[in-house]
Amino acid sequence: MARSTIRIRGTLLLGDDKASIARAAKIIQNGSLVAFPTETVYGLGAAATDPEAVKKIFTAKGRPSDNPLIVHIAEPEQLSDVAGQVLPAAVMLAEQFWPGPLSLVLPRAEKIAAEVSAGLSTVAVRMPDHEVALDLIRAAGVPIAAPSANRSGRPSPTSYIHVLEDLAGRIDAVIRSGACLIGLESTVLDLTGSRPVILRPGGVSRERLETALGCRVIVSGLNKESGRPRSPGMKYRHYAPRAPLVLIAGPESRRRLLIAAIVESCQQKGLHVGVLSSFIKGSARGLTPALSEPEQLAANLYQALRQMDKRGIDLILAEETEIKGLGLAVMNRLRKAAIRVLKV
Ligand code: TXA
Ligand code: MG
Repeated sequence: MARSTIRIRGTLLLGDDKASIARAAKIIQNGSLVAFPTETVYGLGAAATDPEAVKKIFTAKGRPSDNPLIVHIAEPEQLSDVAGQVLPAAVMLAEQFWPGPLSLVLPRAEKIAAEVSAGLSTVAVRMPDHEVALDLIRAAGVPIAAPSANRSGRPSPTSYIHVLEDLAGRIDAVIRSGACLIGLESTVLDLTGSRPVILRPGGVSRERLETALGCRVIVSGLNKESGRPRSPGMKYRHYAPRAPLVLIAGPESRRRLLIAAIVESCQQKGLHVGVLSSFIKGSARGLTPALSEPEQLAANLYQALRQMDKRGIDLILAEETEIKGLGLAVMNRLRKAAIRVLKV
């Protein structure tokens, strides 16, 4: 069969058929980088056991060297290759939530390159719920370290197009597959302390984890805490669109009045406003997707932010959502993207 040699600025564009996945696996085995789809966002993968390959991830993304990566496995049994100690809570959670958007922080096994953990003695690990990702990990025969496949500080990629926008010419290959179903990253849960702590809210809700664990689960950074953040990634301003994003908080009716007033006054001045909200469908130059449920908001959020950047939007207004279920993760990302919160 003829091999595809479509390259975009030197980056090989691969299909998601078995032959292409086998080719991607070879690239990983050779110490190079491949972006691949998962159910959350596209990841930028390298062999987690190869220090030089892992270093390339940091360079390609422009990622601060103290921000650790998540390791991806294809079967729960592979957990003992990645974690030095497989805690009982991890076995129980893996059984219930894998494959799926839950990354567990555990002590790191020696086989895993220290660079993956960026100086920590722990490692985050998950089994993604995506056949292409699982086939790639199996074919590579090695756990794959993968952060989101975006340039640092840009919204995470939920389609291969986003990956190319940020990384074409900086990585070896991209697997071209469909859009990511969840659209927000995994929940990062630290199991190494005396109590489980959510370091980053994501695809598995706090409520579901509390039910599974039978105890309350703290969300790091939700309340004022002192000391250094336990998840180094959380200290950086993430998910930043180019236009300033203002988050509108307060009772629903007042939020909406304020949004309408700001949109009107900006339009009078010839400014283009983008609105992330469930109520102004089709306005603001048709940019607003139907975002009435947290799941829909999650699936569309990063795509909407990138679109607004492309269309030269001057100001983004985002409406707060309830912090229940996936809403906690959505609000976490919106707060990080916002330059300001307006309370009405
Ligand atoms: O859904 C996802 O998690 C995606 C897909 C590709 O799996 N990956 C992803 O990776 O979002 P990244 O690198 O963009 O975010 C990883 C987060 C960061 O906030 C990082 O600080 C935290 O996980 N993290 C990774 N290893 C850690 C560790 N050992 N201890 C504490 N936090 C850790
Ligand atoms: Mg990321």
